Amino acid sequence: MITHAKPVVAFDLVIFGGTGDLAMRKLLPAMFRRFLDGQLPAPCRLIGVAREQQSTDTYRQRVSEALRKAVKEDDAIARIDAFLGMVSYHPLDATSDTGWEDFAQDLKSIEDHVRVFYLSTSPGIFVDICERLRQHGLNGEGSRVVIEKPIGHDLASACEINDAVGAVFAENQIFRIDHYLGKETVQNLLALRFANVLFEPLWNAAHIDHVQITVAETVGVEQRGPYYDHAGALRDMVQNHLLQLLCMVAMEPPASLNADTVRDEKLKVLHALKTIDAGNAGQVTVRGQYRAGSANGQSVPGYLEDLGSPASDTETFVALKAQVCNWRWAGVPFYLRTGKRMPHRVSEIIIHFRDIPYSIFAESSGRISANKLVLRLQPDEGVKLWMMAKYPGPGGLRLQSVPLDMSFAEAFGVQQPDAYERLLLDVVRGNLTLFMRRDEVEAAWKWIDPILAAWAESPDSPRSYTAGTWGPSASVALIERDGRTWHDDDH
Ligand code: BG6
Repeated sequence: MITHAKPVVAFDLVIFGGTGDLAMRKLLPAMFRRFLDGQLPAPCRLIGVAREQQSTDTYRQRVSEALRKAVKEDDAIARIDAFLGMVSYHPLDATSDTGWEDFAQDLKSIEDHVRVFYLSTSPGIFVDICERLRQHGLNGEGSRVVIEKPIGHDLASACEINDAVGAVFAENQIFRIDHYLGKETVQNLLALRFANVLFEPLWNAAHIDHVQITVAETVGVEQRGPYYDHAGALRDMVQNHLLQLLCMVAMEPPASLNADTVRDEKLKVLHALKTIDAGNAGQVTVRGQYRAGSANGQSVPGYLEDLGSPASDTETFVALKAQVCNWRWAGVPFYLRTGKRMPHRVSEIIIHFRDIPYSIFAESSGRISANKLVLRLQPDEGVKLWMMAKYPGPGGLRLQSVPLDMSFAEAFGVQQPDAYERLLLDVVRGNLTLFMRRDEVEAAWKWIDPILAAWAESPDSPRSYTAGTWGPSASVALIERDGRTWHDDDH
């Protein structure tokens, strides 16, 4: 495999929450893959921080186990020990002074490193951590802070977090991560739209009938019940991942890839979203909660059993119809759908073009389906363009919808990197294009809050759906009322 990876400048990555699931499953494996690709110069330091008292040796042992789960190739496993040489551990409590001075001295022992502070902790301690970083002079120009969602649970709490972090770091030092923006297909959306002449002239209400965005997972809430039950699918997925995807599809062509230029365009989309509130939430939103059923051929419990609670009104599924009120998209619905315990793990964006204006073909030629462009984010990242073609051979002119199918893995012969690989190195490079700006996060909450309020006021509970199905039947009805259907990859 040819690598096009360019080494970055030497940096320190400090992971607060360094013993947590994200660090072990995503962040450290992502760094390991970049290391294997020769992108991390030797003096880089990866420092896990958590409250737990343990030595660097014990921490390295845990990291090593996590890496062995994440990579399978023998030659990669053989390099784990070399990678662990960059890894160390610091026990620290964000709410106590103990250990901070030593930690700061240790970091400052190398002066000119870019310092990345990744806050993979509960948002409740973001403020304490930032405050201590400031007290110890660790928020200078070469420092960057990465914050993970949830950034608040509504507009007011998001503003509080943004204010507090913003009191310590300048906006261009704050990297609000949405890992969906690091997925290859999402970046490819930029290439598809703006590096080809083909699509952009059609990318509007005159030629597009509607857009669908589906992010379906087969997993349930796993061990994250306490967090998830306070969040629900709307906060956990729609407020960030699905809205970001919608913005990438709907935004006007930015004048450049400059971070603020791109983010300005995304922000305009968020501002153009038609409000959903108590007046229309009943017609344009559906929420569901899974009950016992099956996943990957095995029986699985329902949400309440997973949660260990007798009752909860938290939604594990949302379908909604969004409208972008501007000239480009007037009258083009964006149907969004996401849920846990769906039949397949699939994330895709479907651009559903309009029907041809007039058919010259006889009825016996078959139905002429509208063109569809399917951008698949996972699994098997790729692009499919469904188009009509003549069925080969004699027997009259029979038409059939067939896909032009491009798998990125096949086309480029390389494995698709994990989103965190790209995003973490963008942080080091100081490139904010794929990160959310403060006003974007707040605009997204501003749109979400009235939906949450409408649901809270409504006497209805989420509709139940059986695990292993595509959510409540009301979700099918939501789109069928408009004479459309959810995309199914077989046609
Ligand atoms: C996270 C959500 O942001 O994204 C999880 O909190 C969800 O609930 C995950 O499972 C999905 O990410 P991916 O990359 O697996 O689609």
